[in-house]
Amino acid sequence: MTHQELRTLWTSFWEKKAHKLVSPAPLVLQNDPTTLFTSSGMQPLIPYLNGEAHPLGKKLYNIQLCFRAVDIDEVGNNRHTTFFEMMGNWSLGDYFKEEQLGWIWEFFTQELKLPKEKLYVSVFEGEGEVFADHESVKIWKKLGVADDHIHFYGSDKNWWSRSGPPNKMPVGEIGGPDSEVFYDFGEDLKIHENSPFKEKECHPNCDCGRFLEIGNSVFIQYKKSANGSLTELPQKNVDYGGGLERILAAVNNDPDIFKTDVFSSIIRIIEVETGISYDKSEKKAEMRVIADHMKAAVFMIVSGVIPSNKEQGYMLRRLLRRAAIKTRSVSGDLPVKLFISVGNAVLTIYDGYDGINKKEQETLVASVISNEMNKFSQSLDNGLKYFNKYEKVDEKIAFDLFQNFGFPFEVTQELVEEKGYSLDPTRFNEHYESHKNQSRTASAGTFKGGLADQSEQVLKYHTATHLLHQALRDVLGPSVRQEGSNITGERLRFDFFVDKKPDTDAFKKVEQIINEKIAEKLSVECKILPKKEAEKIGALYFFKEKYGDEVKVYFVGDYSKEFCGGPHVQNTGEIGSIKITKVKKIGSNLMRIYAQ
Ligand code: ALA
Repeated sequence: MTHQELRTLWTSFWEKKAHKLVSPAPLVLQNDPTTLFTSSGMQPLIPYLNGEAHPLGKKLYNIQLCFRAVDIDEVGNNRHTTFFEMMGNWSLGDYFKEEQLGWIWEFFTQELKLPKEKLYVSVFEGEGEVFADHESVKIWKKLGVADDHIHFYGSDKNWWSRSGPPNKMPVGEIGGPDSEVFYDFGEDLKIHENSPFKEKECHPNCDCGRFLEIGNSVFIQYKKSANGSLTELPQKNVDYGGGLERILAAVNNDPDIFKTDVFSSIIRIIEVETGISYDKSEKKAEMRVIADHMKAAVFMIVSGVIPSNKEQGYMLRRLLRRAAIKTRSVSGDLPVKLFISVGNAVLTIYDGYDGINKKEQETLVASVISNEMNKFSQSLDNGLKYFNKYEKVDEKIAFDLFQNFGFPFEVTQELVEEKGYSLDPTRFNEHYESHKNQSRTASAGTFKGGLADQSEQVLKYHTATHLLHQALRDVLGPSVRQEGSNITGERLRFDFFVDKKPDTDAFKKVEQIINEKIAEKLSVECKILPKKEAEKIGALYFFKEKYGDEVKVYFVGDYSKEFCGGPHVQNTGEIGSIKITKVKKIGSNLMRIYAQ
């Protein structure tokens, strides 16, 4: 079955049941402080589930584009994606369990002709103030579901709210017990036996991939109240959602959703461009990640998102970068052409649906993707080199990779997992927070780095200032001492003390040394050391600054070492060249240098 056929069946089914088509919400939400993307069909209906009258009535349906960042680490198996389409129907205080379960059963078994013996259902086993859902069990039995195809689970599996089980629901959040339908791909495929769950007994929710959850009827009838208990909503609602891609996989009786026609041409392009066969390759998981992330990226781009360092833009950047890293791991290369072709394939699949108009959007999609990928490919090379320098990468190095090379945390986590260990996100966040605090101090002007901002040019001048400091000492002697510095995108300024009048050609020599050190392409590295040890190895410091017990020391090759908060370029080669433009006396034994 094709996705177009499935969409048509869904639409005509609910029209026959006197439901009204409610326009889906945009994938990318604007001005919503609680969330960046739509992640469920019910999200735009919250006021109506709470009791407000909906202009279209009480019985609604649609197909909603969804993005769930929480599932990002699961992508790679046969069924998880970050981006998917949710086929949904709702009763806003109209019908309840009897009609809902009956209709969903009818849709699966009569419209889609899924064999009854391959369908399993789950119901809520009860917890706290909410009883086990025997009402649903009775309905399923009446519909002909065999006893051994009905399974009870707790609130971790059979309760739905946007925040999870009752104890995680914030005050005011709505939710309720749910009943799911699973499709069984059968024992013959030996999916369970080949999964990490093989030691345990298989069951519909076991996560091995043999069973695929294809629909979830949530009975939204509770709200979390301020005293922590659940109170009944003024009306009993139904919120149903089923993944279009998963339902297609069940209809086609193939457990791999990446084989459905909403993915197959994307996978085909990845195969052609990398020369690797999806079915035969050990890189299947990586190819799935590329397909999912690129598809999500295209939908974000056509929704107006561009890669950036915050909010939706950062999510888009993460997706593209993760796809890049995976492509690199599949093909050893980063062919921008692959990403553009995949972008085109996504537009072709969805042309005419969900706000996609291939002709109008292909230039935009190609240019956003190629800009970002070209930008990233350079830092990817350097970042991987940096990564490979270390036998074991810790959270601090992961933070360096994030800050200096734009590697999202989970990209480094992917990389280290291939080596058989993992990183602690909390410790990574500690580095992130401590850096943020340092930067705050810097921008408050209390940090003596004297940087106007952290632009590329300012970092170049900053590193050049360290070279200048050391070169002045080489030429004018060890009395040279930094008195201050101030760096903007236009020039660097450096004030220093010196005990004698410099020779006329002294600054020519200083300039020459700096440019030699630039030409040597020295790497710039930073270490955190106990202050005593940093002093012992002769690291230069700024005597006006007060340092803690631990200090950050920047090493420029083995030429210069200096107490400094950073940041810097990674390699002196990046500086290009430096010219001393002005030298003047600003006090007794005090001089100021300008350079560009
Ligand atoms: N809102 C329910 C879900 O997302 C249907 O699973």
